[in-house]
Amino acid sequence: MNGRSPDIDPDDIGHNPSENPEFSEILEARLSRRGVLKGGLYLSAAAFFGTGLIACSSSDDDDDNEDDPLQLTFAAVAKSLADALIVPTGYTASVMYATGDPINFQTSAYANNGTDNDFEFRSGDHHDGMYYFGINAAGTAWDPNVSSKGLLCMNHEVCEDLGFVHPNGPTDYGSGNTNARPTLEIDKEVAAHGVSVIEVNQGTGTYGVNKGSMFNRRINGASLMDLSGPAAGSALMQTAFSPVGTQTRGTVNNCANGYTPWGTYLTCEENWAGYFNRREDNANRTAKEVTAFSRYGIGNATSGRYNWSRSGAGDTTDLYRRWDAGATGASATDDFRNVANTFGWIVEIDAFSNTSVPRKRTALGRFGHEGCWPAAAVEGQPLVFYMGDDSRNEYIYKYVSDSPWSAADVNGGLAAGDKYLNSGKMYVARFNADGSGEWVLLSLSNPTVAGFTGYAFADEADVVVNIRLAADAVGATKMDRPEWGAVNPVTGETYMTLTNSVSSSSGRGSATPLDAANPRYYADAKGSSTNRGNVNGHIIRWRENGDDPAATTFTWDVYLFGAQSDADANVNISGLSADNDFSSPDGCWFSHATKGLLWIQTDDGAYTDVSNCMMLAALPGSVGDGSSVSVVNSAVPTNGNADQTVTTYKGAAASTDNLRRFLVGPTACEITGIAETPDGKAIFVNIQHPGESSPGVTDPNQYTSHWPDGGTARPRSATVVITRDDGGKIGV
Ligand code: FEO
Ligand code: CA
Ligand code: CA
Ligand code: CA
Repeated sequence: MNGRSPDIDPDDIGHNPSENPEFSEILEARLSRRGVLKGGLYLSAAAFFGTGLIACSSSDDDDDNEDDPLQLTFAAVAKSLADALIVPTGYTASVMYATGDPINFQTSAYANNGTDNDFEFRSGDHHDGMYYFGINAAGTAWDPNVSSKGLLCMNHEVCEDLGFVHPNGPTDYGSGNTNARPTLEIDKEVAAHGVSVIEVNQGTGTYGVNKGSMFNRRINGASLMDLSGPAAGSALMQTAFSPVGTQTRGTVNNCANGYTPWGTYLTCEENWAGYFNRREDNANRTAKEVTAFSRYGIGNATSGRYNWSRSGAGDTTDLYRRWDAGATGASATDDFRNVANTFGWIVEIDAFSNTSVPRKRTALGRFGHEGCWPAAAVEGQPLVFYMGDDSRNEYIYKYVSDSPWSAADVNGGLAAGDKYLNSGKMYVARFNADGSGEWVLLSLSNPTVAGFTGYAFADEADVVVNIRLAADAVGATKMDRPEWGAVNPVTGETYMTLTNSVSSSSGRGSATPLDAANPRYYADAKGSSTNRGNVNGHIIRWRENGDDPAATTFTWDVYLFGAQSDADANVNISGLSADNDFSSPDGCWFSHATKGLLWIQTDDGAYTDVSNCMMLAALPGSVGDGSSVSVVNSAVPTNGNADQTVTTYKGAAASTDNLRRFLVGPTACEITGIAETPDGKAIFVNIQHPGESSPGVTDPNQYTSHWPDGGTARPRSATVVITRDDGGKIGV
């Protein structure tokens, strides 16, 4: 994020304060990497997929009756600091859906001067993860093969903190402010959060929003939500709004996303904790409650991020007072002391039922959910979803459904969700120093969880609500901020971006020791300042043993290390060049139409003196295609480690053939969120918060970006659709 250090990235709120040992410390076994690969996984993978482990396309362009190797076919885009969206020659990017755009014909065009008040019928702000669901010929349900018209489901992570949606910025805003806020401002900010469901049609030109569609809908920070799974109906979920603990209002901080094999959308609640305040109620809380609040970063503060709970006397239904999570009433059903337990979940939305109530799926655990990514669904086998908890030193999780998959459930809506997402096993990842890994069960049936002295779990509801504590109990591996994950449809391997870890108080290498899976600590100059830690981030990947997504062991390596191309070999470990160097990977997604093609997006604050955030196309190989490497790190000032050389496992070196910059965004934006039409000939990409570093909102001369409207306009987040001028598939 341009203009600020990674230390103050608002995406990066809180960190894991537990004292789990790093696995490089506690695992003594030093099996040879070669032996691991030879003994099992690599051979079984070769047997399963054939010898061609590298990605191959399904096309035969030269008509020799053999599939041709997949190749990137565009010219790399150069790094750029221009306030412009740049795509390769031969491609066109068109703005399709920007903050404030109406979703129906009744709502006026967006004036973009702070005077528009009806965000319930406009695009929300801060576009993020999204997914395209083709619409069948009858116009009633999902057809995964239809490219000409579909429902685009999209997250709106936050409402711009600078207050571009208000005439003069926000009033009495932010943590620490105890004044009552204007209700009109709260209305807009709450409604600018959440999710858009919009129908997009190809039409005669490029894709556009069908404002007449019956499916168009905004779900926001005030919408009714059902709670389902183990924590639904628990005493931990009781509020004055839902004394039986089965409903709540709103979804917020919807970052990345997921989708289900039955055709529903998954939106994910990431940095929700900071929205709440407790009005200094520790004296009314149990010791267990205080432990839980502390672990989740729900402060004892007087006000939250937006100060929404200071909503004044007009708030007769507690619609906004509920952001006050203080224990102020006689019991849990008289106040909102438990309301924060109703946030931090995966939320399932049936886009094809415009009156359906979204369901928060508590079986998938409560944390800072970045996204939720399915492994390939196999008939008769359990469904598997991978998830990351994006905060410094947090964990990577996996959910395995109890119910085996049946393709008869396609288009089964939320009832199918009840079948697959309400009952299953939650695991957390341990990455061992020898390149192996384990998925550790998080349940009272695991004696380590049941016997945890740091927090006495009452029942399985308590485990999913406070699953970070269960993961602490089993010694999960602290990661450098897990962002997006993606499962390679060619190899079945899962990739997850680890965006960075830079903080003097809790960052990697300063307060948190290095380990094999998070092996870097170095200094990086940006202007006159220096960042230290894992400044540029990396991308880890793993292959489940036996190629079974439900396996409890795996093998891993680091697919790519972010770096400046001019950094030394202990930093630029993957050998990045000017055509593909990047920092702070965040979004990542494997194409469905072009199997083996991976998209990588950045949300960076470290390399933004050289380039705005970007998107790259990649053709990765597979786990074990590189080698072990000893990383010689800079001296680490505070953790007391004598030896800063860490052995890890790097993937095959980058080249312009297998990694190439495809897009650079406008000033101070983040590139996050990608979807594609099933024919692979159009991709939708979200440009989040251009102009985020602007010092003010009243004077256009202070805007660091005017994208996408140009002139003196206020900057807006937006979805762009990208097509190839010759009508071909994107990227290859
Ligand atoms: Fe909202 Fe972790 O990015
Ligand atoms: Ca630098
Ligand atoms: Ca993100
Ligand atoms: Ca990020």
